[in-house]
Amino acid sequence: MMSASGFSLSSHDLQSFTPSSIILQELERKQQSVPIPREIREIYSNWRPTPLYRAERLEKSLGTSARIYYKYEGGSSIGSHEMNTAIAQAYYASQDKNVKCIVTATGNGEWGASLATSCNFFGITCKVYMVRDSYEEKVFGRYLMEILGAEVVPSPSDRTSVGRKLLAQNPESPGSLSIALSEAFNEANNRDDATFSWGTVMNYVLMHQTVIGLEAREQIRKAGDYPDIIICAVGGGSAFGGLVFPLYPNRKPDTRIIAVEANVCPSLSKGRYAYDYADAEGLSPMLKMYTLGHSFIPPGIRAGGMRYHGISPLISAMYREKQIEAKAYTQRQAFEAAITFARTEGLMASPETAYALAAVIDESLKCKKQNDRKNILFLLDASSNLDLSSFKDFIEGAVKEQTLPEKHIQEALEYLPKLLEN
Ligand SMILES: Cc1ncc(COP(=O)(O)O)c(C=O)c1O
Repeated sequence: MMSASGFSLSSHDLQSFTPSSIILQELERKQQSVPIPREIREIYSNWRPTPLYRAERLEKSLGTSARIYYKYEGGSSIGSHEMNTAIAQAYYASQDKNVKCIVTATGNGEWGASLATSCNFFGITCKVYMVRDSYEEKVFGRYLMEILGAEVVPSPSDRTSVGRKLLAQNPESPGSLSIALSEAFNEANNRDDATFSWGTVMNYVLMHQTVIGLEAREQIRKAGDYPDIIICAVGGGSAFGGLVFPLYPNRKPDTRIIAVEANVCPSLSKGRYAYDYADAEGLSPMLKMYTLGHSFIPPGIRAGGMRYHGISPLISAMYREKQIEAKAYTQRQAFEAAITFARTEGLMASPETAYALAAVIDESLKCKKQNDRKNILFLLDASSNLDLSSFKDFIEGAVKEQTLPEKHIQEALEYLPKLLEN
């Protein structure tokens, strides 16, 4: 990471963006693990360990020789993997006497609702900038956050200087996660009693999520197997890092690891490996990552979590070193795969996991063709409780396929920070 002005990063540069006890986790380079405080473990024990299932009915319906396993994170109180880091961040923030409020940004509302719940557990208030098109389309996410006591503001908004500037340029702006992040940074920076909380991308968020892979590693070992193919959707990379990192050191030499993106936001597949800002306005530190450019606004697909311009630096480095593959699928392919899964396994996956499912089905059919008995492991990161209306719209033909003109990417890459390294 580099500071916003291009110098190497110090803990001081992170102060406005991160509760102080977490800064140490972000910058830690030597320790292999950190203990999970008792207060966090007690709450995790309400739904952890989460189950690892074998999708036998899906295997049968595809006629594949592959075994398909999935780790299911939909059993948390909000029904999403995002509770893992939300609980940890609210706990660490509550250790700082000055922090009375956590400000954040959310796409479809799962992250915002996870943080609102966690703030309630630790006596802190929560304010959420929600991407405007999700605020208008994903009303259940918004309702849930409000019921939980969070203040929810559609972004771009007239509450911050960043939002006002963007609204003046385009009053109809659908918003994006990077714009909502700028607004949340802006507010957290201007308040003495508030801190910002990241739902993805940062090292410490991925570390909190590794509880997923640590459990999966034991569970699949108990089942007497080891994954030959590991598949997970990537938006900013928290679910992917959480599943993959603990499995990576002892992987088989030929294990394939596949990060699945949306075709309209292909940060790994078509982005540039460069230093870039995490937010639209360039207020955050610069991260070395695969990015489509912080000014990139992806077309409005229903999977709000897949619409982020960059990917966690740790995952970007793995891709750069060819340790993982990236694949991109369209919205239609994703919805179709999730519906096949629901009809065979009886579980509705989130629109984000739907992209991973498209890859799972593809790989299973390849195994079938080659009569290959591979073990496939994927992460079902959330249930679709907040997104059923998107599935209904898809079935009724009201969800349009979206494309991304190459020119759109090239234009956004023009605005990368002007650094020698880029
Ligand atoms: C349910 C769900 N899955 C996946 C994602 C993608 O983010 P990440 O790659 O950080 O897991 C999000 C992000 O909002 C999400 O809400």
